[in-house]
Amino acid sequence: MKTDRTHKNWFQEAKYGLFIHWGLYAMMGGVFNGRKVPYGAEWIMKNAEIPLAEYRKLQEKFLPVNFNADSWIRQAAQWGMKYVVFTAKHHDGFAMYDSKVSDYNIMHTPFGRDVTKELAEACQKYGLTFCVYYSQMQDWENENGWGNTWDFGEDEKKDFKKYFYEKVKPQVKELLVNYGKIGLIWFDTPYTMPKALCRELKDWVKQWQPECLVNGRIGYGLGDYRQMSDNEIPVLAFPRPWETPVTLNETWGYSSVDENWKTPREVIEKLADVAGKGGNLLLNIGPDGTGNIPEGSIKVLDEVGGWLKENGESIYATEAVPDFAYQIRWGRLTMRPGRLYLHVFRYPGFPHEIMLAGLMTKVRRVYILGTGQELTFFQSYEIARDEYRFRVILPPESAEERDLVVCAEVEGPVVPHELV
Ligand code: GLC
Repeated sequence: MKTDRTHKNWFQEAKYGLFIHWGLYAMMGGVFNGRKVPYGAEWIMKNAEIPLAEYRKLQEKFLPVNFNADSWIRQAAQWGMKYVVFTAKHHDGFAMYDSKVSDYNIMHTPFGRDVTKELAEACQKYGLTFCVYYSQMQDWENENGWGNTWDFGEDEKKDFKKYFYEKVKPQVKELLVNYGKIGLIWFDTPYTMPKALCRELKDWVKQWQPECLVNGRIGYGLGDYRQMSDNEIPVLAFPRPWETPVTLNETWGYSSVDENWKTPREVIEKLADVAGKGGNLLLNIGPDGTGNIPEGSIKVLDEVGGWLKENGESIYATEAVPDFAYQIRWGRLTMRPGRLYLHVFRYPGFPHEIMLAGLMTKVRRVYILGTGQELTFFQSYEIARDEYRFRVILPPESAEERDLVVCAEVEGPVVPHELV
């Protein structure tokens, strides 16, 4: 991937995407035999060691009458997301699309609709980039896939290559040739997969769609961009493109017993934090077994979407901010050429002033991004400390704002004094 600052691709500009974890597991909602099974609800088959023969029965019952690709994606667009990553096949091995490779797929359910196709078309309609998640190593349905030791015995004794050539490559090809342009393919948990196979898989993707990006969990740093761990945001800005997948509660797949939602404010803070470090935030929803998106997530995403309508300029297509040595106690920075955005998460007490130490760049004008209200500011050089200071006086009435974004128009590149 080009990291040249002047040639950003769609991924680096997008900043905010929707992750959708949806599969047979959604019908269980994280509960098995009346007990909540700990950890991700999409892992329920493995975590409760449900025999394949029993888990398969979900396939016979899958009828998500409330599923509506158009409404999911229309909402994603309103929420301000620029791309969608859908779990075409998660670790349970069940394909949520029309696969000729294995009958363990959505066409062989009472629902019988190719939801992947419907989602891809809806993305096209609303101008979002459609992307797929594919679990390449773990597959709890295939006797040679990794992970299902309770039905098939030790993983190390399996013929992984057989699974790789008979299921993974043909299925990945199906996804890349039958669903139009795929923005990126999101692999996961490569565990001990040999490097040669990881490379082969990446080449395979490029063979069918040369522009399709491959995420970092292909393994061995072979991805086109770096994939952070789940819910992990790095401390410093990153020079290469990267992405953090984030849950809205404690799980990826739908859980009927997890209402521990992040607040809109937390999500906005993460978004600004990630954008300021040059990355993307991939925020997850786990629709339930009927196809409904949980109310708890909708509420949060609606609010974040509302904030983005006013303040999107401070997030989309921004670039990593060089590191300032001193802690910025009141919030975060994002930027684009000619503009530095100050995200005020912790509103300062009287005299309502925020300060950025180390900014050498000349500031021309400062205003509130959402309203255009001009703000008073000062730039000074403190002789004793050898320190450049940029101070902005905030209006007291903004104290209630969720994330007040102050825009500073700057002359030339943002240069922290410590880096000179
Ligand atoms: C994990 C989990 C998985 C989830 C993913 C999202 O590695 O195995 O269930 O899909 O992270 O980032």
